[in-house]
Amino acid sequence: MSPPATTSAKSARAFSFASINDGLANCANTAALIYHALPELNWAGFYFLRDGELLLGAFQGKVACVRIPLGSGVCGTAAARRETVVVPDVHAFPGHIACDADSRSEIVVPLIRGGTLLGVLDVDSPRPDRFDQDDARGLEAMVAQLLEASDFERLATSSS
Ligand code: SME
Repeated sequence: MSPPATTSAKSARAFSFASINDGLANCANTAALIYHALPELNWAGFYFLRDGELLLGAFQGKVACVRIPLGSGVCGTAAARRETVVVPDVHAFPGHIACDADSRSEIVVPLIRGGTLLGVLDVDSPRPDRFDQDDARGLEAMVAQLLEASDFERLATSSS
């Protein structure tokens, strides 16, 4: 895995997992790649669907909330809708869960394989309106690559 110098998630997707198919190892490196390759982030990481709710997984950033019910916050909303959610102003998002008070904008990409929800990728920024459609498409491409390369059986134990 060779992190490129870039400012947008669209161009940050040019990396590979080589022969590693462990879901946790690949999520940990993906979180680290995103956090260090993209500017103006204060959190990047994963929640996995576990017994009907989202459970904190591999991440970079400050200590975060551990469990998020489906439908709650930005993460639970993206998981329930099964679509990427871009929030330009977290203070204007009803039900936003403030794990880090510095967060001003956020993007959440659901992890879906074969119609099964496995979790979400969550990325936060201290800058308002940090994420655009290029970031959404880039992060979705990274998630698709991650899902193709990785085994999530031990991480996500219940589908929804
Ligand atoms: N803000 C998220 C909670 C997770 S933290 O940002 C890491 C939400 O509203 O779901």
